Amino acid sequence: MTAQTLDDLLESGVAGRHVLVRSDLNVPLEDGAVTDDGRIRASLPVITELAAAGARVVVMAHLGRPKGQPDPQYSLKPVAERMAQLAGREVRLAADVAGDSARAEAAALGDGGILLLENVRFDPRETSKDDAERAGLAAELAALAGGVDGSAGGAYVDDAFGAVHRKHASVYDIAAELPCYQGRLVTRELDVLSRLTGAPDRPYVVVLGGSKVSDKLAVIDHLMERADTLLIGGGMLFTFLKAQGHEVGASLLEEDQIPVVTEYLKRAEDGGCRIVLPTDIVMASAFAADAESEVLPVQALTSGAHGAEALGLDIGPETRVAFGDEIRRAHTVFWNGPMGVFEFEAFAHGTRTVARALTESSGLTVVGGGDSAAAVRTLGFSEGQFGHISTGGGASLEYLEGRHLPGLEALERPDAGTGQAGA
Ligand code: 3PG
Repeated sequence: MTAQTLDDLLESGVAGRHVLVRSDLNVPLEDGAVTDDGRIRASLPVITELAAAGARVVVMAHLGRPKGQPDPQYSLKPVAERMAQLAGREVRLAADVAGDSARAEAAALGDGGILLLENVRFDPRETSKDDAERAGLAAELAALAGGVDGSAGGAYVDDAFGAVHRKHASVYDIAAELPCYQGRLVTRELDVLSRLTGAPDRPYVVVLGGSKVSDKLAVIDHLMERADTLLIGGGMLFTFLKAQGHEVGASLLEEDQIPVVTEYLKRAEDGGCRIVLPTDIVMASAFAADAESEVLPVQALTSGAHGAEALGLDIGPETRVAFGDEIRRAHTVFWNGPMGVFEFEAFAHGTRTVARALTESSGLTVVGGGDSAAAVRTLGFSEGQFGHISTGGGASLEYLEGRHLPGLEALERPDAGTGQAGA
C-alpha cells in the first residue's frame, strides 16, 4: 500500500470538514519567545492550503518533552502567536489537548478556521508505551474531527516529518481512526532523503557533528556502507581522537563509546569509507562566550595555557580548510550537527565554514537536524542557498539509518482510516 496524499484529500473535497493535521512545531524558545521559526514556516503551507479550501483545520503538535502533564513553559502559546503572525490570520489555541476546551473550540470552528490544540505531550497517553492508552487518546482526537463516521467526515494529515519516528498517539495511532493522508512536507522530505539512500552522485560526503557520539552510532554504522567520506566535528570528535590515543583535556568525551569508535576507525582503514578527523582544535579555558582560547594540534591538545583543564569548543583553521575542500569537491553532501559551540561567536567559525562550503558546492546539499538547521539560519545563511534543509532531526537520521518509521508505516497500514484500530 502507498500512502494517500494531500492532493487525494483535496480532490475528495474538504470544505466544511474537520481535518486534523499533525505538524512538527517543536521550535526553540528563549524567555517564552520563538528563536527559530523554521519549523513553523515549513508547516504553515499545508495548514493554510487546507484552510483556503474551506477545511476546519485542527493542528496537533508537541513542544519539548513535558512530563505528561500541563507545564506552562511548554505551552504552544508563543507558537500559536507566531503562526498567526506569519499566516496573517487568526490561529486559535485550545487550552487542552482533547478536553472541554479542545471540543468546544473544534466545534466552533468555521470553514477555513485554524485551531491549534495545546501541546499533545501534556496528555500522558500521547507517548505511552501502552497501545490501549494511546488508542484512547487517538479516539478522542479523532472525535474532534467528527470521527470516521462524523456528519462531514473528518480526515487526518500527517505533515510532521520531524516526528515520524515516534510511535505516539497523534502520529501513529490516529491514522487508524480517520482516513489519512501524507502532507506535502513529509512527501518533500522523503523525495530528497531517498536520493541519499538510493544512488547518490559521488563523491558522497557526510559531515557529522553535535555533542554525543552515542546518538550518532547507528547512523555512522549505516553511512559507512554508503558514503565515500565522513567528516567528524562537534563534541563527538573527541571520542574519536581519544580512540586514536590523543589526550583531549576536559573536552566532551564518551569513554564507553571508545571501543565501538575504534572499530569504525579500523573499518575505515580497511577500505571503503574514509573517516576524516580534525587536525587542529580551538581549545578554550571554559565553556563560555568570552573564554580564552588558542588553536592546538590534535597531538598536543593539553599543551596550552590551560593544560588538561582546557576543552575543545570548535574545529581549528587547518581543519576548516580541509573540511571545506572535501565538501566543495563532493557531488552529494549530507550535514548533521554543528562543528562547535556556534551559539558563541568565538566558536562558530567551524560551523560557519561548513555551512558556507555547502552553499558553494554544486552538488545536492542536504542539511539535516534541528541544530544544524537552526545554525545555518542563526549564522545568517538563507534557506535557498542549500538544496534542502530537513525539518527532521532524529527523524532524518533514522530514515538514513534505514529504520522503519512508525509515522510513515501508519499511513500505509491496512486498518488505516477505518476506525478499526487493533481489530
Ligand atoms: C525533533 O525535535 O527532532 C522532533 O520534534 C522530535 O522531538 P522529540 O525528539 O522530543 O520526539
